[in-house]
Amino acid sequence: MPESITITDNRTGESIEVPIVEGGVDAAAWRKLLPNVWFLDPSFSTTAATTSAISEVDGENGILRYRGYPIEQLAEHSTFLEVAYLLLYGELPTSGEYDVWVHEITHHTFIHERFRKRFMESFLHDAHPMGMFVSTIAALSTFYPEAKDIEDPENRMHQIVRLIAKVPTVAAAGFRFNTGMPFVYPDNNLDFATNFLSMMFKIAEPTYQCDPAFARALDLLLITHADHGQNCSTSTARVVGSAHTDPYSVISAAACSLYGPRHGGANQAVMEMLYDIGSYENIDPFIKAVKAGETRLMGFGHRVYKNYDPRARIIKQAAYDVFEVTGSNPLLDIALKLEEVALADDYFVSRRLYPNVDFYSGLIYQSMGFPTDMFTVLFAIARTAGWLAHWVELLEQDSRIARPRQVYTGSQERTYTPINQRS
Ligand code: ACO
Repeated sequence: MPESITITDNRTGESIEVPIVEGGVDAAAWRKLLPNVWFLDPSFSTTAATTSAISEVDGENGILRYRGYPIEQLAEHSTFLEVAYLLLYGELPTSGEYDVWVHEITHHTFIHERFRKRFMESFLHDAHPMGMFVSTIAALSTFYPEAKDIEDPENRMHQIVRLIAKVPTVAAAGFRFNTGMPFVYPDNNLDFATNFLSMMFKIAEPTYQCDPAFARALDLLLITHADHGQNCSTSTARVVGSAHTDPYSVISAAACSLYGPRHGGANQAVMEMLYDIGSYENIDPFIKAVKAGETRLMGFGHRVYKNYDPRARIIKQAAYDVFEVTGSNPLLDIALKLEEVALADDYFVSRRLYPNVDFYSGLIYQSMGFPTDMFTVLFAIARTAGWLAHWVELLEQDSRIARPRQVYTGSQERTYTPINQRS
């Protein structure tokens, strides 16, 4: 059986045979046979926009691997910074490489004082921290104009280190400003996750200390959110990057996409949904409303996973580890019951809707003291590593500017009518 498909233009009888290579069919053959006939695929459900060697998502079987390593193994043995290195360089670091990498990231965490005070503190006191985050990251491009030189791999890597190092600082600065708390400077003696928790929650103690279970749970959440194929925000990063825009603007644009409730905003939406449901007796009416199409069960369903999201399983376990320290979160019982009801209901089963990465992550964040409007910012900190890995991959591929076609459905040519002659 040949590994190919044949496309026939029934208007002319002309055919073309196209090989299937690694599960993909090259669109160039389509273009050759059918000039000016576009493959209509809104939301890109059937379109591979690129080849990529970074993360493999097998939605049918509920598998996620970064550079070939199963997410479960990375979650058990690795750290977020090691995973960031893996995503960017393609290989796990040796211990020497790892030490240099951690040192580099740790020593680029500060942001310019005047920039923070003049720029970040000019927001309204109740500005959404994600709005502050995307604006601040974009504004950093004015601070590092040399970042525009995207052709130089060394310069690129310098900006990458800055971005991975500074996103937690920007995120925490937004939170402290929102809550009227003084800014906490990065502490280079702490690991990546603990330093972020310190910048978020330190009060007057000389050195911030937290239960190691908290830092580990946060690191785990960062690992599981670090990359995920050509998702909406990564695709945004690649589209913007294809115009050869600087990396700060690329990451800001990707974060804008993540901001939406259908994407990275979903864990905030999950918490709001759990609050609204409030108690067990409201679960059945809520499920009924979902089935009637009046609302959605947030944290359920995924474009690619038609099976249990492997990240949701890891995060559900991490939730129990955190609750051992904090005591249970009362919303957990509602979430568990919702999951049980949904997984036994034909509406969800027949549509293959399972919990996704965001169903349980908000519960952990909340128990650790993060307000709901910080949840998407936490996601952005993690995904910055993935976005940057894709940005580098894109620049190293011989890519052209992203420029989809459209199937035009508007008016045919008509003649302009002066305003006083229009009815
Ligand atoms: N609750 C109820 N029904 C749902 C849900 C849901 N969460 N998700 C999908 N469906 C239904 C749809 O109504 C549709 O039913 P129909 O065939 O009768 O019309 C069917 O399942 C297919 O849904 P689509 O919208 O076509 O699925 P799509 O792949 O476009 O959407 C998405 C994926 C956006 C994630 C969707 O499942 C959703 O809105 N989920 C809730 C939000 C969420 O949790 N987002 C986080 C995703 S993970 C991430 O971004 C990190």
